Amino acid sequence: MHGGPSKDPGFDPTTGIADKPADITAGPISEDSLFGDSDRLSDFSGFTVSQENRVLPESSKELSNLQKSKEEQNNWTENFVHVLNCWCVKGSYHQDMLHMWDIFHEEKGSENDRPDIFPDTQLHIVLEFSHGGRDLEGFVFNNAGQAHAIFLQIAYTLAVAEQQLEFEHRDLHWGNVLIATTTKNYVEFKLNEGTYCLDTKGVVATVIDFTLSRLKTPHCVMYNNLAEDPSLFTAEGDYQFEIYRQMKKVNR
Ligand SMILES: Nc1ncnc2c1ncn2[C@@H]1O[C@H](COP(=O)(O)OP(=O)(O)O)[C@@H](O)[C@H]1O
Ligand SMILES: [Mg+2]
Repeated sequence: MHGGPSKDPGFDPTTGIADKPADITAGPISEDSLFGDSDRLSDFSGFTVSQENRVLPESSKELSNLQKSKEEQNNWTENFVHVLNCWCVKGSYHQDMLHMWDIFHEEKGSENDRPDIFPDTQLHIVLEFSHGGRDLEGFVFNNAGQAHAIFLQIAYTLAVAEQQLEFEHRDLHWGNVLIATTTKNYVEFKLNEGTYCLDTKGVVATVIDFTLSRLKTPHCVMYNNLAEDPSLFTAEGDYQFEIYRQMKKVNR
């Protein structure tokens, strides 16, 4: 679900995000998967509870961490969305957030349920991400060079994460690639200790939405068992649904 800030008193939507562009995403979570045993933490939907009811979304955190300590890393990229903050909050959706959801749905269409279905007792994970710009679906390139630059950036971004974390995105359609204009001339990557500088052509790519992804850390494999959601493989319409079926066939 993509939404706005929550009414929970522990979450002040203006704190820390008013002075910089950011993107807020909220999603429901069961008490079980939040406070369950440690095995649950190796599920992709698992979260680590830390101080003051703050939680760290493991997958987003691992990918966001690929932009830390460039000098010390063999594999480095800043093209995965950066996690700025994360909260666990309780309650039903505020009218203002429902209104924002309706506007989003009207303008862009959402496949998710309208979030007025949640009771007062519902827990939600609220994530604050860096703002990555417009999704590829809605972005208008100035020239073919920009499209080529985005293609290369995405290829390098995925290569870095594949090398470091055996990462597979598994849902990289044009709603999950964001593009922003930039005044930087180059974007840098480190891959297997080699440093690569790509010409931005004035645009920078950010990869988002790791719901269906898989990655491996020294401690665990994080993934969502896609076999538990058969409807994923029967949808019609966008070309991305055909890709899900092809993935399933190849991985049989
Ligand atoms: N960090 C971000 N910056 C700018 N826009 C974003 C960001 N994250 C999400 N969006 C917008 O919200 C849409 C849906 O977000 P996403 O995380 O892919 O959720 P969903 O699971 O609903 O697909 C994206 O296609 C994009 O338009
Ligand atoms: Mg998405």
